Amino acid sequence: MNKEKGCVLAIFGATGDLTHKKLLPALYFLELEKQLDEGFTIVAVARRPRTTEEFRKEAAASIQKFSKYKPREDILSRLLQRIHYHQLEFNQQQDYTNLRKRISELTTRRCRQIFYLAVPPEHFEGIVQNMEAAKLADKGNKDVRIVFEKPFGNNLRSAQELNKTIRKVFDESQIYRIDHYLAKELVQSLLVLRFGNSIFEPLWNNKYIEHVQITVAESIGIEGRAGYYEKAGALKDIVQNHIMQLLSLVAMQAPKKLTADDIRDEKVKVLQKLSIRNIAQDGVKGQYGNGKEAVAYREEKNVPPDSKTDTYFALKVFVNNATWNSVPFYIRTGKRLKERATEIILVYKPSIIRLFPEVQDGEKLNRLTVRVQPDEGISLTFNTKVPGNKILIEPVTMDFCHECTFGPKSAEAYERLLYDIIQGDQTLFTRWDEVELSWKLVDRIAAAFKDKAPAMYPAGSWGPKEADMLIERDGRKWVVPEKPRYAQMQVNHEGH
Ligand code: BG6
Repeated sequence: MNKEKGCVLAIFGATGDLTHKKLLPALYFLELEKQLDEGFTIVAVARRPRTTEEFRKEAAASIQKFSKYKPREDILSRLLQRIHYHQLEFNQQQDYTNLRKRISELTTRRCRQIFYLAVPPEHFEGIVQNMEAAKLADKGNKDVRIVFEKPFGNNLRSAQELNKTIRKVFDESQIYRIDHYLAKELVQSLLVLRFGNSIFEPLWNNKYIEHVQITVAESIGIEGRAGYYEKAGALKDIVQNHIMQLLSLVAMQAPKKLTADDIRDEKVKVLQKLSIRNIAQDGVKGQYGNGKEAVAYREEKNVPPDSKTDTYFALKVFVNNATWNSVPFYIRTGKRLKERATEIILVYKPSIIRLFPEVQDGEKLNRLTVRVQPDEGISLTFNTKVPGNKILIEPVTMDFCHECTFGPKSAEAYERLLYDIIQGDQTLFTRWDEVELSWKLVDRIAAAFKDKAPAMYPAGSWGPKEADMLIERDGRKWVVPEKPRYAQMQVNHEGH
């Protein structure tokens, strides 16, 4: 980082959950790793009355509670010294003028300014307009950056309106739209896996790949967020952003260079060609009912007893280009599923040499699994001969365990995101055209399923039967996420 320039990070929504659970612990690690320069100042902006001292105490408690490792006192106190609290009503123009004064008092010279909106999306437009009126925004100046947490809009129209307002005040080059899945270590390593390995790159297309599965399974429920979730549901909460991003990284062509725009140009080309053939048949909307250890969604606090909101969605989609024509991408996500697991699975076509008829389909097809979380790693499943006189064939799995090789210290998503924002690297942030294209498709799906009753599944299961049928109709099966062998071994070691 340029030591001359220092930097201001103003976090709107500083008393909220995201700041305390993610942003402050991430800032602590940036401090630990000496990534924050001397002049780096954090202005915690929120509506509640607090003194800086009070806020620092709360921040310390959150960092202690939510950090991966026990924080070091010296590092923690260095970070806390950087933090200043500023009370602001989101709709009070004068408060923004005061914020500008406060920032100039806290920083001795002109420096990069980052405004991080960790607030509910209904405040985005108002904040941006007030920032402009108070001359906090500086259109076209890449050293003034604005960060938006998701969701970016609730449908295509609201996203377009929001974007229009923002673009009056900021250029695209100043805007950082968060999709924290892009900063997960194994998602970032997709490009290397694909384009840095001659054993994979030539096989990454419809000549060799039979189908692709992307699963984002969560074991948690809605965690008290009924207000938000009732308006979103699984389709808008996870498919529109995280899954669309995973899919575009899997299906994109090699970018010309590793620049933010070259990479995003290629992802956009995928989204332009993404289609669902028969919405009614190729989608399943689900909702969890009572399970052994959890209550039904409709019994969660503040959820209406007749809610039709999707807590699960499965889809079959296609990328209609020469590389992927005819390869179905089966995608699914859900809350209160059996386990937390995010996996990308490529299932390969059978060999054209048909010497072994038993390896032509089902579980004996070769598979490449990218395990995004937990127990990050990559596994290759292929067939081998079982020892003995006869030729018996069994699939075996070769694993790369990320943590076993690189240790447990890979950066948390928010650490990486904050680092990149400070550096001014937009690669891991979604550009407007990506957001717009994914909303276009999601809007069509949402409209088709709006009044449809959800298919029910017991909390703690792998989702509704209808989702199994979606893929089984095509003679395929969902690959059930399993704890990789290396993770099972770790558990055993720890158990002894
Ligand atoms: C968020 C969603 O974007 O991602 C949440 O709003 C979800 O509903 C979360 O729980 C999952 O993120 P992660 O990193 O825990 O997989």
